[in-house]
Amino acid sequence: MAKVYVFDHPLIQHKLTYIRQKDTGTKEFRELVDEIATLMAFEATRDLPLDEIEIETPVSKTKSKVLSGKKLGVVPILRAGIGMVDGILKLIPAAKVGHVGLYRDPKTLKPVEYYVKLPNDVEERDFFVVDPMLATGGSAVEAINSLKNRGAKNITFMCLIAAPEGVEVLKNAHPDVDIYIAALDEKLNEKGYIVPGLGDAGDRLFGTK
Ligand code: PRP
Ligand code: URA
Repeated sequence: MAKVYVFDHPLIQHKLTYIRQKDTGTKEFRELVDEIATLMAFEATRDLPLDEIEIETPVSKTKSKVLSGKKLGVVPILRAGIGMVDGILKLIPAAKVGHVGLYRDPKTLKPVEYYVKLPNDVEERDFFVVDPMLATGGSAVEAINSLKNRGAKNITFMCLIAAPEGVEVLKNAHPDVDIYIAALDEKLNEKGYIVPGLGDAGDRLFGTK
């Protein structure tokens, strides 16, 4: 069964408070999403495999650890997921970046796919699918379906704010996918927005609306 991790690190919680506030402007919102994504990536990469190599310090020979070179991929769900990519790449710069374009139909709240581009060696990579918001869960489920249909085997989902409803939907649809969340909120409202949430992540990130 999928594991759900809520990152309660004080730095993450502090920055989240500012992105939630309605008067936080686009520039600050974007910077904070980037910083939170870096902090989340630090936690989410805790189990990356290591190799031991021989090195020589100015004092002696010794054995020391380096990353074993596991192939990684980051896949933002367009648009808002883009805001998390650079923050993650700061820590794992060799990761390849794929894109899945989805928007939520405002009437049905169902995701509509309009773009998919993934690295060629999709079967060999471990992927982080990223989106600031997990609301009904439809977009995350569909994006992960898209990756799996193209051969991806090992996927983790990472978001800033999740509604309990979305977590349940994602866990049930993809029990093999672990979920990393910065904050688990109260509920969805009648329009499918997370309460208290932060509003429309894409609009706040890109200054649209
Ligand atoms: C938002 C958000 C997620 C989705 C979450 O995207 O960035 O992708 O809604 O909702 P769900 O869990 O109910 O599917 P939106 O559809 O507004 O598109 P955008 O990022 O292009 O603004
Ligand atoms: N998408 C958003 O951007 N915000 C929400 O609260 C729900 C879906």
